[in-house]
Amino acid sequence: CNIQYFLDRFYTNRISFRMLINQHTLLFGNDTNPAHPKHIGSIDPTCSVAEVVSDAYDTAKMLCEKYYLAAPELKIEEFNMKAPKKPIQAVYVPSHLFHMLFELFKNSMRATVELHENSEEALPPVKAKVTLGKEDLSIKISDRGGGVPLRKIDRLFNYMYSTAPTPSLEPGAVPLAGFGYGLPISRLYARYFQGDLKLYSMEGVGTDAVIYLKALSSESFERLPVFNKSAWRHYKTSPEADDWSNPSKEPRDASKSKYKAR
Ligand SMILES: Nc1ncnc2c1ncn2[C@@H]1O[C@H](COP(=O)(O)OP(=O)(O)O)[C@@H](O)[C@H]1O
Ligand SMILES: [Mg+2]
Repeated sequence: CNIQYFLDRFYTNRISFRMLINQHTLLFGNDTNPAHPKHIGSIDPTCSVAEVVSDAYDTAKMLCEKYYLAAPELKIEEFNMKAPKKPIQAVYVPSHLFHMLFELFKNSMRATVELHENSEEALPPVKAKVTLGKEDLSIKISDRGGGVPLRKIDRLFNYMYSTAPTPSLEPGAVPLAGFGYGLPISRLYARYFQGDLKLYSMEGVGTDAVIYLKALSSESFERLPVFNKSAWRHYKTSPEADDWSNPSKEPRDASKSKYKAR
């Protein structure tokens, strides 16, 4: 809808401005960044993807343990088609990658812990698979957190859609979930450099979230909204009648169905 469309473009601009400001202050500031001398501004030309994956996992794990007193393990696998056995590196902004992975790990951990809350067995691990092909550098985060029905998948990318209770806004409180901004903003980060973020879920079992990045830095230019006639039209036209015979909707009388929807 329009709000979704507007917010996507609004936040993409925000990501871009912040990137530009950051880049400027880092490049024209006094010295090279002492913590990361090889970085070009906020860009790391040899960003080790698996390292960012485990950093994001560790940070999410701390939060998860704070809330649930337990967290699933992590298993990382790498498949480097270009240079087998070598760690996969990207020319990327590590903070963007961290943001996306942190959000995906928080979601996977929450789903896993909540599904297995009352079970005696150990929590099924969250798996991360980092792969590099000719065109794509992909990162898949898989959990066994029970998944989401296909009908609801698109909705998860709506701003404010969350199944977690509204988190407290006290200063210092860092909630694990509840703002519903995790997935939509992460997808914007991925798309900002011509990548994408997709969710594949099998209800009853678990979810795979895949971050796609461009393997070649020459392909990862900025993707920015432009304000032109088609954008204007987007705001002007009201949605017309559905042109498919069976508009998807909530199953009728779900409470009585034996396949009860949550
Ligand atoms: N891996 C997952 N397994 C099951 N449900 C998920 C998963 N990831 C996301 N979701 C669902 O999508 C919703 C939106 O996620 P997100 O945008 O990160 O917001 P939040 O985590 O603040 O709720 C979550 O509330 C949850 O219901
Ligand atoms: Mg989340």
